[in-house]
Amino acid sequence: MKKKGEQVAWITAYDFPMASFAEQADMDMILVGDSLGMIVLGYQGTVPVTMEDCISHCQAVRRGAPNTFCIGDMPFLSYQVSSKEAVRNAGRFLKEADMDAVKLEGGIRVCKQIKAIADAGILVMGHIGLTPQSSGQLGGFKAQGRDAASAHVLIQDALAIQEAGAYAILLEAVPPELTTFLARKLTIPVYSIGAGGPCDGQLLICGDMLGLFQAFTPKFVKVYANIAEVEINAFKEYVQDVKTGAFPTDDHCYHILKGKEEEFNQMLKEFE
Ligand code: KIV
Repeated sequence: MKKKGEQVAWITAYDFPMASFAEQADMDMILVGDSLGMIVLGYQGTVPVTMEDCISHCQAVRRGAPNTFCIGDMPFLSYQVSSKEAVRNAGRFLKEADMDAVKLEGGIRVCKQIKAIADAGILVMGHIGLTPQSSGQLGGFKAQGRDAASAHVLIQDALAIQEAGAYAILLEAVPPELTTFLARKLTIPVYSIGAGGPCDGQLLICGDMLGLFQAFTPKFVKVYANIAEVEINAFKEYVQDVKTGAFPTDDHCYHILKGKEEEFNQMLKEFE
């Protein structure tokens, strides 16, 4: 697609229905992001997410989207400690959850791990800019690379990631000027989440673009639906129906089989 100049559209998904809807919508790729910690598990950030959480959600996504390129996101401390652990955990995404690739956060400081994973024959994507796992060091969920000095560091990181063997790179919340420069400079695909364009494709978090995540909506998100509102209204209507007796009606019931009513009524008499 990069060679043809076609844009890649991808989203995050964490479960069977979301993945199935994405595949039905012809999504090019799915990221099973560790953002699942915030979007579906209710954590404040992504740090508490475990390998077991990720594998289980990747498996559900693969069942929902058997024909879509799926990327497993490596959670905090699954790759930082050593290259050996990084390879073993990256391999689990392929062996146990049938992912096509993995993604990890960080620049030069994780290039040893990127090289080791790539050398093991696993497609690995880099991720720089606003990296949520290290948001503590970044001073929160803040845009990155907005001046020459910090943009310079990100360019060095991106070049090192490509050199280490990553097959693609994701830029999060950096200026479009930097994204465009890197998309021209690098030979690997450059994707954006909140990093503008032009580059090789765009990622959004499903919880943000569908209006499922209520805590906050980043500036870079285009909201395409308000699913929270739809769900809350449906739940309210259901509660009301149950309380007023409007649900269930005869349409929602399984009656005693035709011709078996008499036998049934006789049987009940035994208990009177
Ligand atoms: O976990 C995730 O969804 C991500 C995106 C923020 C890029 O890594």
